[in-house]
Amino acid sequence: MTTCYINGKYYPIAEAKISITDRGFQFSDGIYEVITVYNKKFVDLDLHLYRLLESLKKINIKINLNRSQLERISKKIQKINNLKMGIIYIQITRGNQHPRDHKYKQIKPNIIIYSIKKDLNKFDQTALKGAKATLYPDIRWLRSDIKSISLLGNVFAANHAKNKKAHEAILYNEKKYITEGNSSSVWIIKNNVCKTHPLTYRILKGCTRAKLISLLIENKYKFKETIFSTKELLNADEVFITSATNFVMPITKIDEHTIGNGKPGSISLSLRKSFIKAI
Ligand code: PDD
Repeated sequence: MTTCYINGKYYPIAEAKISITDRGFQFSDGIYEVITVYNKKFVDLDLHLYRLLESLKKINIKINLNRSQLERISKKIQKINNLKMGIIYIQITRGNQHPRDHKYKQIKPNIIIYSIKKDLNKFDQTALKGAKATLYPDIRWLRSDIKSISLLGNVFAANHAKNKKAHEAILYNEKKYITEGNSSSVWIIKNNVCKTHPLTYRILKGCTRAKLISLLIENKYKFKETIFSTKELLNADEVFITSATNFVMPITKIDEHTIGNGKPGSISLSLRKSFIKAI
């Protein structure tokens, strides 16, 4: 059975419990991280732990663990659970507070860390065929830069994708500009220039996005952090998404629109290869 870390102790997941007075449970008052383990290797661990600490700062939660302690516990969980392929999930909420009150007190945060097995190799097949996406309005709050556990907007979008038999929902804002995916960063390529939304409050600072930018620079691809419209998305030569679990995933269909010639673009596939090679 999976072992789960909670506030300094380790439990079998069936016995891992948090109080109903947890502010994460009652207000989504907390943040999380998803870190991929690929062939026992942690992918972009430093970037994820850095973003976790940044998210904590943004919502004013102070924990008594530093970066290297979080790394040590995550690696211990990976070892105990013998995780070869999958994710490490970290969630930190503000803590237990009773009676319920929107206004928070200085309380002890609840820290949980556990792992989930996932066959990430199955995405290789999807990538070779190209994945389908669907458009959905970005109805989330205006601080999508915080990796908040408040994910109802993303849940709506992901379930819209599920109903459309799509791999991901691509979100557009009130001005019909693309922000990001329901759980990914979105990229287009037009005339050999890669484009993705700039880092603002409207999107999450993707760790895979950051890694991909360094690969683009290394391989001398042209890229721009710029907003682009739904129309530009549908008329792009190539479209792909990036995330901790997707790596680089070519999108060949968006609703009824075919992207390019309907096959995964050569740049997207080559970037996927470079990304996996660099793990
Ligand atoms: N999601 N944008 C959103 C809204 C996301 O939820 C994610 C990741 C990303 C990509 O970030 P990264 O490259 O650091 O994974 C962008 C994770 C995988 C999740 O919630 O499961």
